[in-house]
Order: sequence, then C-alpha cells, then structure tokens
Amino acid sequence: MPDYDVIVIGCGIAALTIANRLVPDKNVAIITKEKRDNSNSVLAQGGIAAALTNEDTCDAHFTDTVVAGCRHNDADAVWKLAAEAPGRIRRLINQGMAFDRDNDGHLIFGKEGAHSCRRIIHVGGDATGKHLINHLLEQVSDRVTLIEDETAVDLITSGKHCTGVTTAAQHGDRKRYTASHVVLATGGCGGLYTYTSNAPSITGDGVAMAYRAGAELADMEFIQFHPTLLYHDGQGKGLISEAVRGEGAVLINNQGERIMKHVHLLKDLAPRDVVARTIFSRMLSGEQIFLDISMIEAFDQKFPTITGKLHSNGIDPEKGLIPVIPGAHFSMGGVRTDLVGQTSINGLFAAGETACTGAHGANRLASNSLLEGIVYGNRIAEKIKGCHGEDSCSLTADLKTALPVSLSLPEKTTIRQMMLEHVGITRSEAGLHKVIRWLETYKQQIDGCDLSELTTDQLTKVNMITAGWLIATSALMRTESRGAHFREDFPVADDLNWYQRPIIRKYETTEQLHTV
Ligand code: SIN
Repeated sequence: MPDYDVIVIGCGIAALTIANRLVPDKNVAIITKEKRDNSNSVLAQGGIAAALTNEDTCDAHFTDTVVAGCRHNDADAVWKLAAEAPGRIRRLINQGMAFDRDNDGHLIFGKEGAHSCRRIIHVGGDATGKHLINHLLEQVSDRVTLIEDETAVDLITSGKHCTGVTTAAQHGDRKRYTASHVVLATGGCGGLYTYTSNAPSITGDGVAMAYRAGAELADMEFIQFHPTLLYHDGQGKGLISEAVRGEGAVLINNQGERIMKHVHLLKDLAPRDVVARTIFSRMLSGEQIFLDISMIEAFDQKFPTITGKLHSNGIDPEKGLIPVIPGAHFSMGGVRTDLVGQTSINGLFAAGETACTGAHGANRLASNSLLEGIVYGNRIAEKIKGCHGEDSCSLTADLKTALPVSLSLPEKTTIRQMMLEHVGITRSEAGLHKVIRWLETYKQQIDGCDLSELTTDQLTKVNMITAGWLIATSALMRTESRGAHFREDFPVADDLNWYQRPIIRKYETTEQLHTV
C-alpha cells in the first residue's frame, strides 16, 4: 500500500484547493519546503478575475485572455478558466470568503491591464492571496498531513508511472514517500531572475523535477515580467500591483513625461509585456521611471499592503511617486497537462504556475493566476477522486545509478544575473547561445547524477540551472517575438497587432459556455 492516496508538493493556492477538495475522501499529504504560509500565493496583491457583473460575460473574459496571450492560448483551456470562474467564486463566497464590498454590500470590481471591463475582486484591498491562503489553511490544516521544511528532491518513477517522491528533511535526512497520485504545485521560475515579484523560494523546482522524470514540458520561453516592482537601493522590493494603475496611476520618467501615452491604445494598462519593455528600454537609456499615484484618493486604504511596503522602505506615499522596475513575475509555460492536470507521466499531475494548461498563452492576463489555481485545482481534484483501480503504486521504482557527486556550481546571484541579461525582457540569438553554453558547463555535471547526496542549497542551484537551461533553449527555438518572449532579432510582425483584430471564438454564445 502506498503511504498516501495523494501527495501534493507545494502549499500555494492550487495545492490547497486540491487538498481541500479531496479531504476527507482521500488521504492527502502536503509537502512544502518552507512553512505552510510561506508560498508565492500569499504575496498575490492582484485579485481574481471572473465575469460576475451584468455588464460582463465569460465570452469577454475569454477574449481578453486570448488577446493578452497573443493567441498562443489553448482555446479549450481558456474556455474552462473563464466559464468556470463565476461558479468557483460564488462557492468561495458561500464558504465564507469575504471579498471586498462597498457600503451597499456590493462586490467591488477593480480593473487591471488588458481587461475590457472592471472584473477583478479582491480581499483586504491588495492582500487577496494572503486571505485566500489563510482561508484554505483553516479548512485543510487538520485534515491533511502537512509536512513543512522538507524539500522535494526527485519524483519516484517506474517506467511511465510516478509512484512517489524523495525529500530532504531538515539536517539533510533523506525520506521517501509513496502515493497513488503526486501533484506538482511548486510555483514557477521567478526566483531565477535578479528582479522578481516572487518569493525567493520559487526556483523552478517542479519543472526541474518533472524534466528529470521525463515529463513533457511546454512554452518554457514565456516568462512574464511585471512592469512595476518597487525599486529601491538598486533592488526590487516586491510588487506594486497593476490595480494601482487600474485606479488611475500613470508611469512617468524623471522629466515628468508619461511614457505609455503614445505606445499603446490602452496606455498605462496595456498588456504587461508591452509596458515592461517600454520601461526597460527607457531605463536602458538612463531614465528613472516612477508610478505617479498623486491622483489616487485614500491610497493607503485602497492599498494597505503597498502602503506598508513603501513606509518600510522609507518612501512616503503622500509624495505621490513610487520608483519602479520590471521584474520576473509569472511562468506561462511549465509541465504540460491536459484539462484535468494530468501530465505525460501516469499518476503525476501539475497545477498552478508549475503547469502549462495552455490557458495563458504567451502572456498571462492579470488576475488569472489565482483563478487558474482555483479552477484547475478543482478540476484536478475531481479527476483524482474519479480514479479507481488505476493506482500505480504496486510498481517498483526504477533505481537511479548513483554517480559520485563533486559539483562545482555557480552562486545563485550569478545565475540570476545571467538569466536577466540574456533570457530576460528582451533576448537575442547571440545572448541565448552565450547563456546556454554557460549553463551547459554546469548541466553536464548534473545530468544523470544522484541527487540524494546534495545539500538543499546545491539542490536549489541544480533546479535553477535545469529550469534556466529549459527556458533559454526554448527561447532560442522560438524564432519570433510573441507576448512575453521578445527576440531583438525577430521584431513583432504586423499581423500580431492583437488589439485591432477580431477574435474568432470557438464558442458563439455564453449560453453554450455555461453548459460546459
Ligand atoms: C498585480 O497585482 O499586479 C499582479 C496580479 C497578477 O499578476 O495577476
């Protein structure tokens, strides 16, 4: 018998949604390398997009997602996301999630980049992720086995079956857990870059583990840079939500000129790749970029988390200017899955940012990520609940050949600098070749090596090098500029002028959509 029915690796929104939906029917373990409340989702300031108003439709949400995604999206995956969003949000409200409401008790809808209407709901102003995670942790903590401070090392596989995971506990002790189903929900790759909105623990672990186990990956080259991290003392100091621009803030340079005014029809609320590239090129030419927030009334009440962050960095929000820099924010690609999270390895699922369902295309639409964790988390849990008699745990795991480990690995800061410089907001063939050659000097040492002897620090570097190499080689192969993948040597073609082209919808009416 396996140790658990289901092991979920990670503790963010997707992981907790899955666990919450599976208990008490299934015996679930959650393994997280930090504490339970230390996930990337906790940092999410933006809210959740869902067509909940009379002026909005799932159709419109679908269209905005595909337009932002530069039509690289899987239409079915987007459809599920948009169509199932309202029902999932209503269920959360019924379970007691207190989304922000006005004095009349109506939900408050915010606006973010590339949305055609106000459709984003929040909790606690700019603390949606934190409240959602607390809500889910309250529901699941006593009903699952929650293993903290334990780093997943490798998936245990037997042929094309995943049968469990090995871990490194505190003090380096190795452990081994078996399960009928394993879910990778470890987040994306933001921590591979110098500037990032992500928690430092987000280092591409899920994709690296899946790659070592032979799972299919997709769209790794698409790394979204969020336009506005707080920039202070030469460092990125965390996210300044796009909702701030949704409330009227504008991007200006040190001359006070608006930098987005003539760049895109949607100006400061253009898709993130467009805004991030504009800021980046202005900074390269020596300008400093600021968010002018002077027109936002009651900023501190609308954005309490950001206000706190500004104060703790010695910046007075009353002065109306926030210095900003773009930073790695979201991986659109990842472990390729179908519409119920199944990867190319039996028994192995991927969820949230670790997965590539195809819903986000080349550039994720704002506030679709917590939503993806919720919608696809539920879909995965439903799939797992329905699995009977196909458990793979009676299989014996393949034994890896243990090779002597004497690795010489670079510093994490060096990996981050190389990734930012050559696989960042803009890329070129020469730069990609350079970083790939550099990563491969380390990858050659890693490939086939037995990871069981490594320290967790070495293991993190191994995962960063593996995920970085996957991103860089995918970026080299995509000889076009699309969404978050911008090649200096392949300018955006005229026919990719997304905002002026009609979308051909797969489904014609919202009625059809609701029956999905
Ligand atoms: C933000 O608040 O700007 C980020 C939201 C998101 O990435 O969806």
